[in-house]
Amino acid sequence: MPKVVTLPGDGIGPEVTAAAVEVLREVAPDLKFEEHAIGGAAYEQYGDPFPQVTRDALQHADAVLLGTVGGPQNSPWNSLPRHLRPESGLLALRKALGCYANLRPVRVQPGLEHLSPLKPELARGVDILIVRELLGGIYFDGDRQIEGDTAYNTMRYTTPEVERVAKVAFWAAEQRRGRVTSVDKANVLEVSELWRRDVQALRDREYRNVHLNHEYVDSVAMLIVANPSRYDVIVTENLFGDILSDLAAVIPGSLGLMPSASLGDGPGLFEPIHGSAPDIAGQGIANPAAAIMSAAMLLRHGLDRPVAANQVERAVALALRAHPTRDLGGKADTRTFTHAVLDAVASPSVG
Ligand code: NAD
Ligand code: IPM
Ligand code: MN
Repeated sequence: MPKVVTLPGDGIGPEVTAAAVEVLREVAPDLKFEEHAIGGAAYEQYGDPFPQVTRDALQHADAVLLGTVGGPQNSPWNSLPRHLRPESGLLALRKALGCYANLRPVRVQPGLEHLSPLKPELARGVDILIVRELLGGIYFDGDRQIEGDTAYNTMRYTTPEVERVAKVAFWAAEQRRGRVTSVDKANVLEVSELWRRDVQALRDREYRNVHLNHEYVDSVAMLIVANPSRYDVIVTENLFGDILSDLAAVIPGSLGLMPSASLGDGPGLFEPIHGSAPDIAGQGIANPAAAIMSAAMLLRHGLDRPVAANQVERAVALALRAHPTRDLGGKADTRTFTHAVLDAVASPSVG
């Protein structure tokens, strides 16, 4: 019986995670679930955003399903010493799992172009995979400080760190349309110069069947919304990937449609890319699609169950057509949408 550790976290995290677990129970009744605390909720309970009891539970996990962490702008959590803040718990979790490659798919399903604010002809057929490096760069470098009127962070990468995430991008491209765009700021940053050199060298050595090009991050920020169909796989460093993936959420129509899978050394970590949405938390109106689609990625990448994963993704597409949530201009609340997914899963021939 595979064990899934669930970490609902803060804000809308528990609401959308509960929906994803309901769907998983339906399509994979043999899974065992164990819930633990993370983020602000864990700080309140244990004085630590990534407590030992949660760490220990990961030892026996086959996959980890995460909600979201963090409080509103005025939360007292934001004045804690940095290592005690909810977001630090999430970063420590990623590090503990060794998840260095974060897959963030951006897809406009046929028949759902109307959910995008882009013109239908621009949104139609978009299928991008953003591969975000997740354990390095400015997020994790120890060389950081704030003191008096001066503060600094440093962005550092090594060749092995660049190569291991680039391999995931090339591998993914081989299963897709065979194109990788590596995104950097090599016109200004040395760290990008190394990134570009190493990604190109790896391609020339081991992935000559993949087409690779390099683009600057500022230009990609424009082109990814102006002409999203030009991208297949995008590979980029941690901070650029964080920003570009929220931007790319505009294409399908909402952050609530953006799932992710983080893969690496141990069990995979599956989480929506959106945050805890304090403005709507507790109202039962959050869009659970990103969490449910993250559960589909858990089935595919974490448990090697592609049939069940496809079943869930088809059901989400059907539910989005019939019962769009409020972030998409519809009326469905979390429950209504989740029930629509469960109904579609139970009768996969419909539609
Ligand atoms: P956010 O992603 O929480 O919200 C941005 C906007 O999108 C809000 O208007 C919100 O209501 C909306 N939104 C997000 N997800 C939605 C969903 N599923 N359904 C409907 N609407 C949705 O970003 P923020 O407001 O900048 O951050 C809030 C908190 O979340 C902060 O503490 C931040 O650090 C944290 N955060 C956590 C994660 C994570 O846990 N992975 C990711 C991003 C931000
Ligand atoms: C994300 C979030 C996190 C990140 C924060 C909450 C640490 O924005 O998952 O995209 O920056 O990685
Ligand atoms: Mn983010």
